[in-house]
Amino acid sequence: MNKDQIYAGNSGDPLEKVRDFAFDERVVPVFQDMISRSVPGYETMLRAIGVFAMRYAQPGTRLYDLGTSLGAVAYVLASATEDRDCQVVAVDNSRPMIESCAQRLQQQGVAGRVDVRHENIEDTDIGNASVVVSNFTLQFIERSKRDELVQRIHSGLNPSGAFVLSEKIRVPEEADNAFLIDHYHGYKKVNGYSDEEISRKRKALENVLQPDSLQDWRARLYRAGFTEVHQWFQCFNFVSLIAFKRPPLPSDSPHKASQP
Ligand SMILES: C[S@@+](CC[C@H](N)C(=O)[O-])C[C@H]1O[C@@H](n2cnc3c(N)ncnc32)[C@H](O)[C@@H]1O
Repeated sequence: MNKDQIYAGNSGDPLEKVRDFAFDERVVPVFQDMISRSVPGYETMLRAIGVFAMRYAQPGTRLYDLGTSLGAVAYVLASATEDRDCQVVAVDNSRPMIESCAQRLQQQGVAGRVDVRHENIEDTDIGNASVVVSNFTLQFIERSKRDELVQRIHSGLNPSGAFVLSEKIRVPEEADNAFLIDHYHGYKKVNGYSDEEISRKRKALENVLQPDSLQDWRARLYRAGFTEVHQWFQCFNFVSLIAFKRPPLPSDSPHKASQP
């Protein structure tokens, strides 16, 4: 795995010259290392998404990975549903990302089950879906467009469908927010990023990643029509929710082993 050193070293840009972050050709080769060292609990979240897919993916439906990057979620969705006829749709609007994603899925032996699309998720036609995942992507969508996108996800899900949404959040209480951000930076430091790298990355994301609060996300999900929302993960200011169109029933699960 190539080490993420994009914001490292004395040769790094001074803070005032740091450009907005982009998922470009500089990022692709180091993305796996970047996300593993920057998103607390990332590997655990991928495993949990596999659990959700095993439980809620229905035969004959589609499973969407919105903002797939290198296809980590798409791979988990395909692997967890080997026993049923589902098609995975993996979408990203970064060309270098999606090209690398297609190659990786080929090497991982699941390319035949994944429709890899270079597309803006705002234009993605979502339909006949039993599982939709957005793992740290909607935070990059303009805030004013988030409601409509969540409504389209809701409309595209079948009645027993589930939406897994992971986001970096801001906390409305200033002291709590500062506490989480401070300790999240400590987490990045423990993972080998220097203070300069942390500051430059923060600056680069300032105009690009606009976090909403957990309350905002919950309200948006309910407004779109989801009837049950559970927060199943939080570490520092990173959370994940699962939202259902209607409360799940034991008969929804093709994964009989998990039933009493
Ligand atoms: C933080 S990464 C997602 C990580 C990935 N889901 C995972 O779990 O490994 C965000 C991704 O969303 C993509 N993205 C951002 N805005 C997008 C949009 N409007 N349409 C499609 N992809 C988008 C970026 O190119 C990037 O690859």
